[in-house]
Parts: sequence; structure tokens; C-alpha cells
Amino acid sequence: MSDNINNETLKGVILAGGLGTRLYPLTKVTSKHLLPVGNEPMVFHTIQLLTEAGINDILIVTNPIHVGDFVNVLGSGKEFGCEFTYRVQEEAKGIAHALALAEGFAAGGSTVVMLGDNIFESSIRQVVQDFKTQQNGARVLLKQVDDPERFGVANFNGNKIVSIEEKPDHPKSNFAVVGVYIYDSSVFEIIRTIEPSQRGEYEITSVNNVYIERGQLSYTILQGEWVDAGTIDSLAEAHRIILNRKE
Ligand code: DAU
Repeated sequence: MSDNINNETLKGVILAGGLGTRLYPLTKVTSKHLLPVGNEPMVFHTIQLLTEAGINDILIVTNPIHVGDFVNVLGSGKEFGCEFTYRVQEEAKGIAHALALAEGFAAGGSTVVMLGDNIFESSIRQVVQDFKTQQNGARVLLKQVDDPERFGVANFNGNKIVSIEEKPDHPKSNFAVVGVYIYDSSVFEIIRTIEPSQRGEYEITSVNNVYIERGQLSYTILQGEWVDAGTIDSLAEAHRIILNRKE
């Protein structure tokens, strides 16, 4: 683990694997992250958020079926003013499993990890700046929502997060954990220690709970609208947010 991350150059990781089954038949032949949102493929938005925040070295993790489509659409990164590296997640075994593929790319540094189906009205610059003030550990973004049971949910003691529950039946707060996470290099050692959840996935929530146990998880409250575009209704919402953002 690095003991001073203040001046480190952060790298970006976009997780765009998975099967997108909740969007069938739209995702039968197309990756969810390449579906149109506004006037561009969804993943363009994630790339723009990273480059706007000064992150120009970006790894894209995708599945074996769609990796060729990503390379065709995105190329080297020149068009976006950044540089892409691609890795293939052979099986959709969870977000933490996909992130494990970024270890070599991270090369001992910290990473801004974005879920490729999360759409934001405003920039992610604040959380990136906030992370740069901490010595080590991780930082998550939180947003108050009406339907916390769809997400990872933060449980608080005062204003401190004491645990995160993944899609709880009875959420203890309405603060959802948004799909942007910033981790120091110890994330990869942590991923090796976690077990699959009941649904058989290596959950990012399990990783975040280890940081909490170590007293090393901070958070920033997200300003502006946010949507996880994993369902038809939320995809429609994503269109609206992106079109407003473009205006
Ligand atoms: O959107 C925020 C939520 O995202 C968080 O609040 C939850 O804690 C977190 O678990 C996640 O929940 P989802 O159920 O929405 O995750 P989903 O399976 O839709 O995966 C999110 C992205 O991660 C998706 O765009 C593709 C990528 N992914 C997912 C899996 C399961 C991978 O790259 N590989 C995978 O194996």
C-alpha cells in the first residue's frame, strides 16, 4: 500500500462485463454499455467523466463476446484524448472478480473504478479531489434514493459508515452506494480474501466492508442526478439525464 497517494496519478477502470440480462432482448447481441444513451453509446459517458476528472489512462474490462465491439467503437483512445487498455473477464463472476483483472494495470497505484452502466448528471471531480486528501484506503460515493433495496446500502453510526449491505430486504438507510469507487493498491490483496455471495458473485460490497473493518473507508455525497441504467425504466431515465447534460 502506498502511504502517500496525494500526488499519485490515478488510473481509471471501467467495468463493462456481465451479461445485462435484465435488458434482454436489447442485450442479446449488444453489450449493455454500447446501447445508445442520448446520442452516444453508454460507455462514452463513463469515459468522458473520467477524462473530465483528469484520468487519461483507462482499462476497460469486458466479456469475451463483446470485447471486439468495444475495440471497434473505442479504438486506442486517441479520439477521447486518453489511452485504453482492454481486458477480458471470461465469466461474469461479479464486480470484484472483474476488478481483480486490473491488478497489473494498476501497477501498485490507486484506481478510480466505474461501473459502466452508471449515468451521472454532474462530474466525478469532487470525489476524486476528496480521495487525494486521504493518506490511504478507499472512498465511495453515496446518494439518497427512494429504492435503496436495489443497491448496496450504507449503515451509519452517526455520520460514520459501519457496514454496507448488498440489496437488503430491509435497508437501514436510504443512502445507496453509487458505482464509482476509488481504491488504493491494497484492493487486490483484499479481493483475494473475499468469498462469493449467496448469488455466487464476488461482490464489491464485500471489498468495501473490509475497508470499513480496517477503518479506511471514506465517502462523498454525490450532487446531481444518478441512475444505474440496468433496467428498461432506468435506461429511459439515463436518456433524459444525458440529453439534459448535453444541453
Ligand atoms: O449501480 C450501483 C450498484 O451496482 C451498487 O449499489 C451495488 O452495490 C453493486 O453491487 C452494483 O449492483 P448491480 O446489481 O447493479 O450490478 P450489476 O450486476 O448490474 O453490474 C454493474 C456493472 O458491473 C455492469 O455494468 C457490468 C459490470 N460487471 C458486472 C458483473 C456482475 C462486470 O464487469 N462483471 C461482472 O461479473
